[in-house]
Amino acid sequence: MRILGIETSCDETSAAIVEANLQAPTVKLLSNIISSSLPLHAKTGGIIPEIAARGQVKYIIPVIEQALKESNIYRPEIDTIAVTYGPGLIGSLLVGVETAKTLSYVWNKPIIPVNHLIGHIYANFIYEIPKIPALALIVSGGHTDLVLLKEHGKIKWLGGTRDDAAGEAFDKIGRLLGLSYPGGPAIEKAAQQGKSNRFTFPRPLLDSEDFDFSFSGLKTAVFREVQKIKKLNEQMVNDISAGVQSAVIDVLAQKTLKAAQRYKVRSILLSGGVAANQKLREAMQSSIELFVPPKNLCTDNAAMIASAAFFNYKPIDWRHITADPELYFD
Ligand code: KG4
Ligand code: ZN
Repeated sequence: MRILGIETSCDETSAAIVEANLQAPTVKLLSNIISSSLPLHAKTGGIIPEIAARGQVKYIIPVIEQALKESNIYRPEIDTIAVTYGPGLIGSLLVGVETAKTLSYVWNKPIIPVNHLIGHIYANFIYEIPKIPALALIVSGGHTDLVLLKEHGKIKWLGGTRDDAAGEAFDKIGRLLGLSYPGGPAIEKAAQQGKSNRFTFPRPLLDSEDFDFSFSGLKTAVFREVQKIKKLNEQMVNDISAGVQSAVIDVLAQKTLKAAQRYKVRSILLSGGVAANQKLREAMQSSIELFVPPKNLCTDNAAMIASAAFFNYKPIDWRHITADPELYFD
């Protein structure tokens, strides 16, 4: 079965073709085109929804054409269309959803709406098939969620952030430190030259009984520290970055490993943009098998959307699909 995936929930415009086989089961990536308006947002230090959506209107058709071309798949050979319908920015989601609905109608192909967060989890099922039940940590710019994947289609939400997402904290702190946008990779790079024990930042909710997170206090702690320092030099930025990175990673890793033991899962699945962080990957190592997608599948992409659609194969009539910016776990 060949699935065309479409993802436009935030600033990326992405289309991918996967060839999936239920017998094996395997998901083979034939193409995964990602066009990002990130350079436009780097100038403003954050995403401007209208600018993101305008870029997506421009790129969606060329990106889909390129995905078909690179996969050497002729249009009639596509069996199903999968599209992100939420959560995300409404203008951005509408571009993908309306394009997918139109193609579904014109090509007469079934269409599967995919929850972007569930898509992130299934980035882990593209090259390998993790054993389930599995525990998934989704850490991106908009979300920090711990969920239990009992079986395909059966997900239990265990906890999430009460305020800022982990990636959002990195982005906001990066801005405070005068680093480039997005803050996550910039902080990771600066931290490589820094000492993580020079500044000790709070690790909120580390010992709480639930599986919730909170990162907004960390941003405030960095703000106070920056105010105290008269002139931030490069070494200080590096040391603060290292301190921030280890605070975020400590909380993420310890809570995830605690949940994994409590629910006796067979694998741990990392996903979302922050999963690109090397130190986080190292901290997640335990006796339970860890899966992390390659970096280009950690950040937003359409391959993960096609993969999620394959393992949760529920086509619906295109007339019944609407973009839902507030979509969450059921
Ligand atoms: O999944 P994603 O591409 O978009 C959302 O759906 O939000 O995640 C983007 C987030 C940003 O906050 C970015 O700072 C963070 O992922 N990020 C990282 C790294 N690469 C991206 N955070 C920490 N370390 C990284 N290497
Ligand atoms: Zn995402």
